Amino acid sequence: MRQRVHSGYELDDDRSRIDRRAVHAFLSHSYWAAGRERDVNDELIEGAGLVAGLYRGAAQVGYCRVVSNYRTVAYLADVFVLEGHRGLGLGIALVRFAIDHSDLAHIRKWLLHTRDMHALYARVGFSEPDGRLMERWRETSLVAGTCEPPSTVAREKSSR
Ligand SMILES: CC(C)(COP(=O)(O)OP(=O)(O)OC[C@H]1O[C@@H](n2cnc3c(N)ncnc32)[C@H](O)[C@@H]1OP(=O)(O)O)[C@@H](O)C(=O)NCCC(=O)NCCS
Repeated sequence: MRQRVHSGYELDDDRSRIDRRAVHAFLSHSYWAAGRERDVNDELIEGAGLVAGLYRGAAQVGYCRVVSNYRTVAYLADVFVLEGHRGLGLGIALVRFAIDHSDLAHIRKWLLHTRDMHALYARVGFSEPDGRLMERWRETSLVAGTCEPPSTVAREKSSR
């Protein structure tokens, strides 16, 4: 499924169109997936419930990935828009494209982690979790994870 967004940008769920090198180049330097190996990232693309690419012409300028059982729950991850294309509403369009996708539009329970983009996700209906949500982090498998654990965030904050 393809969808045009303003001024020459296009969203596409075609997994084979993903520029895996470009996606890995961004994510391997992101705060949540720093150091993630290329083969691990390729596996995550292959195994995703949905991948959404944002393109300007042939160039990959944004991406996100959804993990889902297609029935009850979906987890949104690895959302980015490259610098130079930000501030145009493309991040919101990318996230909307994923959560409204026909394969996932019936899912009630969506989850994600974010360090500082709460305002963006609030605009598409995400809110702070209530007391029912719990997490478990295994400290040894961070590289393939979707975000750093709270303890790392705390360490980073205290070292600023
Ligand atoms: C997050 C990101 C995808 C947003 O992309 P974008 O195309 O600039 O987003 P949009 O133009 O659609 O912005 C929509 C809303 O997001 C929020 N937002 C965007 N950039 C923000 C920033 N730097 N700080 C705080 N809020 C921001 C705002 O609420 C904004 O609404 P507004 O324009 O009315 O203020 C992009 O900044 C990015 O790739 N950042 C680096 C990777 C990252 O942090 N990804 C998210 C991981 S959870």
